[in-house]
Order: sequence, then C-alpha cells, then structure tokens
Amino acid sequence: MGFIETKNWIVDKEREIVPQIEEAAMWIRENEVVAFPTETVYGLGANAYSEEAVAKIFQAKGRPSDNPLIVHIASVVQLERLVDEIPLHAKILIDAFWPGPLTLVLNKGEGIAENVTAGLSTVAVRMPDHPVALAIISEADLPIAAPSANVSGKPSPTLAAHVLSDLNGKIAGIVDGGPTGVGLESTVLDCTTEVPMILRPGGVTREQLEKVIGNVVVDPALEDDGQAPKSPGVKYKHYAPQAKLFLVDGTAAFLQEQVENAKAAGKKVGVLTTIEGVPNYQADVVLPSGTATDLATVAQHLYEVLRKFDEYDLDVIYSETFSEEAVGKAIMNRLTKAAGGDVIKEQL
Ligand code: TXA
Ligand code: MG
Repeated sequence: MGFIETKNWIVDKEREIVPQIEEAAMWIRENEVVAFPTETVYGLGANAYSEEAVAKIFQAKGRPSDNPLIVHIASVVQLERLVDEIPLHAKILIDAFWPGPLTLVLNKGEGIAENVTAGLSTVAVRMPDHPVALAIISEADLPIAAPSANVSGKPSPTLAAHVLSDLNGKIAGIVDGGPTGVGLESTVLDCTTEVPMILRPGGVTREQLEKVIGNVVVDPALEDDGQAPKSPGVKYKHYAPQAKLFLVDGTAAFLQEQVENAKAAGKKVGVLTTIEGVPNYQADVVLPSGTATDLATVAQHLYEVLRKFDEYDLDVIYSETFSEEAVGKAIMNRLTKAAGGDVIKEQL
C-alpha cells in the first residue's frame, strides 16, 4: 500500500459542527477512512454500507478479517435499519446507557457490508458519548464502522498522537479532539440470548447493567483460557508493550524483589503502578497510571502508560494488579491480555 497524506483536523469538542468535521464526514462519504475521538478510545471509521471502505480499515490496521467491527450510530433511527429486531432488554439498555460505552450485539438486518460483521449473522452497534463522534456520524449521515484506531495488537489510542504514530500515511485523516475520557473500550454485550452475556468487559460494568435489566452473565471464556470466546476479537493478543509484561499479585516488597532479580540478571526493568505506589519501587522506569483511590483514573491512563514504556527500550515490566470491582474488571482484563496471562503470585 502506498503512502497517503494523512490530514490532521484539530477540533474543539465544545464547539458545534465546524468545517473540519464537515470535511472529515465528506471523506467518509467518499469511502475513505478517518480516525476520530470517542469517549472510550479513538476509532478508525468508514462507511458501514461500503465493502470497499470497510476493507481499508482492515488493511490500515493489519486486522485479521475474522474479527468483526463495531458500527457507530448517532440516532436510534439508524439502528432500526441495521438490525433485524430490537429485543426488549436491549431497548431498556439503550434508554439507560446510550450514548455511552456499551456495545450491543444484535441480529443483523439488510444492507450492511459483509466484512463489517466478518460474515456473522449478528452486528455490534453503539452510540458513542462524544460530541465530535456524534457530529461526524450525523454529518456523514451514515452508520460508521469503527474499530479502535491502533495497529492490530497495540494498545488502543487515547490521544491523537497515538493514532498518528500507528497510522500516519495509511489513512485519509484524523480528527484530533483531545484525549478520550474512559480510556478503555466499550463493554460488548450479546443481546441475542435470553440472558444477555458480556463478551468484553468495559466502560459500563456488570453491576450497572444488572441494576437495569436484572441477570447478566459473563462469557465463561473470559475467565477460562481453555474455552473459545464468543467475541472473535477477544482471542487475539492485544495491548502489549514491546517489553515482556508480568502482573505481580502481592505486596510492593514482593514486586520490588522481582525487579531486583531482573536487574541482577542484567535486564532493564520498568514498573507499572499508581501515583501512590511510585515511592515503593527502584527500577529503571517507574510509571503511574492514575491514582489508587479512583480506578476510573487508572483506566483513563492505562494505554497511554503501556505505550510510554515503549520509549525506554526495556526488557521487562512488572505491573501491580488491581481490584476487579467495577471498572477494575476491564482494567484487569486488558492487563492480563497485555501480559499474555503471566501472573507472578506471592505465596503468603
Ligand atoms: O469503545 C469501543 O468499543 C471502541 C470505540 C472506537 O468505539 N471500539 C473498539 O472496537 O474497541 P474494536 O474493533 O477494537 O473491538 C470490537 C470488539 C472486538 O472484540 C470484536 O470481536 C467484537 O467487538 N465484536 C464486533 N462485532 C461482534 C459480533 N457481531 N459478535 C461478537 N463480537 C463482536
Ligand atoms: Mg481494538
């Protein structure tokens, strides 16, 4: 694929439709791919009705073609065309959580490009809670298929600079609306079964969902490596920094012991902690992701920190673990994947 000049449109997310957004929307209507901010991470968008446009997403990201995309909409009217029917529990969830970081998997309708859903009979849809994303979708007047705007396997982008570092020269443009909010991707919920099932934990927690619709189950494959996950994307190695990452389940002293051992073996070592944890470690690089007193801030900065480690040419990174309460579930899901499942547990 040849180099294309990637346009960079900077927008103020508090302002109404601006010429930059009109231009970005025009490129999407022309079946080109454009990155834009959402409240979770940056997405890489294309016309969900065009096989040709959607193919450009897979090519730019190097994404396996069996991994389906999320379709982004700005109104419930758009949803009616995309899906076969909207079951009652989905309607209730839409009222409660859209726009927001909740993706619903529903039986698909007609018209949507086959490669968006990787040939599945279902389609994943969400309405992002970000004025720039909503303005682009409305202005393009199309449902927009958009995965996270990173090269496949890398942490998702929470800053426009992350998108550029991965995709400059490979996409038509990027709308820079500043840092995203949640920092981790949306929760993916399969609504095609009687009891909805979480396929990927994310910005909306199981507790929040259950408050609104009662019983929700979690794909057993998320807890057990032996099983095939229902969400194709979940099986791929993801979010990983260049250095080998280990999660350390234990005290700060035990984590520091791992650091000492690695240093003794001549390795360059990083530590991932929170602001409060920084003084506990002596390593080549110690980076905090948010504050221990608020897991939402850990989520917000996690991908930025994972990418930051790549600047230091480290051999190994040891990360603290986090409570799996609320958004902690999504944090631990991403960290466990980034570590390829390698957890060092302190024997007490
Ligand atoms: O927050 C987000 O969800 C971000 C922003 C850009 O909206 N998007 C995102 O997209 O994370 P992506 O492509 O990186 O992740 C989509 C996930 C994958 O795990 C994929 O397998 C799953 O959703 N998915 C998509 N369609 C599906 C379907 N029909 N059935 C099951 N899983 C599906
Ligand atoms: Mg992704």
